[in-house]
Formats: sequence, structure tokens, C-alpha cells
Amino acid sequence: MADRIDEIIKKHLNVQRDSLLPLLQDIQNDQGYLSEESITRIAASLGLSASQVYGVATFYDQFRFEPRGRFHIQICHGTACHINNSARIIQEAERLLKIKPGQTTRDGTFSLEIVNCMGACGLSPVMAINDSYYHGIAAEDLKEIIENCKVKISRL
Ligand code: FES
Repeated sequence: MADRIDEIIKKHLNVQRDSLLPLLQDIQNDQGYLSEESITRIAASLGLSASQVYGVATFYDQFRFEPRGRFHIQICHGTACHINNSARIIQEAERLLKIKPGQTTRDGTFSLEIVNCMGACGLSPVMAINDSYYHGIAAEDLKEIIENCKVKISRL
């Protein structure tokens, strides 16, 4: 993993603190999240402190600092979904899973992410769990959807 992180860092020559974004995105795309190790390696290679790199990464909602859960839930909060109550769905997901966006449940089963537009505005509000998409859902549907995921795990 360390070699892979260093390989990605090498592709981003001349990166400065204020132009870290593409490097952080590449590492997250490759690793699924920004681990402590990747933050430390980025900081060391750029002559920055880890807290300076964290400072940049935490400014953006798109970065995760924990590995994804077995069921990665993405809820769209783009304009069309927002108009159709996605905020209520997000609230309900936080309540049921007891995590905030960007976090993973302690048992590693669920992780939650808020995304901008999933390209299905006409079917909003939209969410996805791994590769399955759910359209036109309401906050009240979430409990059953999450329970179904738990059932899938119990059958494995
Ligand atoms: S705004 Fe949610 S799918 Fe486009």
C-alpha cells in the first residue's frame, strides 16, 4: 500500500498546499479513502505537516477518512433531490445508522456518503447502495432498505 501511495504522489510533481486537491482525489480513488498513512506520506513528500494536509482535505466534503462499509450508501443532495426532500432521507440515514456522512459504522457494515448529482434528476430523490439504485424514495422507506441489507449479511 505504501508503495502504491508513493507511486501516486510521484505523478503529482510540483504540488503545493494550495493545489493538493487532484492528488488527494487520486489517492482516494485508488484506496477508497484517505488513510492516516497516505496523509503522512503526502505531508512528508511535500514538506508539510500532516495537519496542514488534513486541513485541506477536511475542507472538502468529498473526502473520506475511513474505509467504506460493506454497504456503501450514497444519497444524492443535488438540486432536484434537495427539492424532493433528500435532506429528510439523509437525516433518517444518520439516525438509523448512527453515523454522519463520511463515516462507517463500527462493525464496518454501512458507510454513508452525500453526493451531488447522480444523473437521474427526473427520478429524484435518488440513492444508491453499492451498485443498486433506488429512485423516488421517501425517508420512511429507508428502514426497510437497511434491514434488507442486514438480512443479506445474515444469509452469508
Ligand atoms: S440531483 Fe439527484 S440525481 Fe440529479
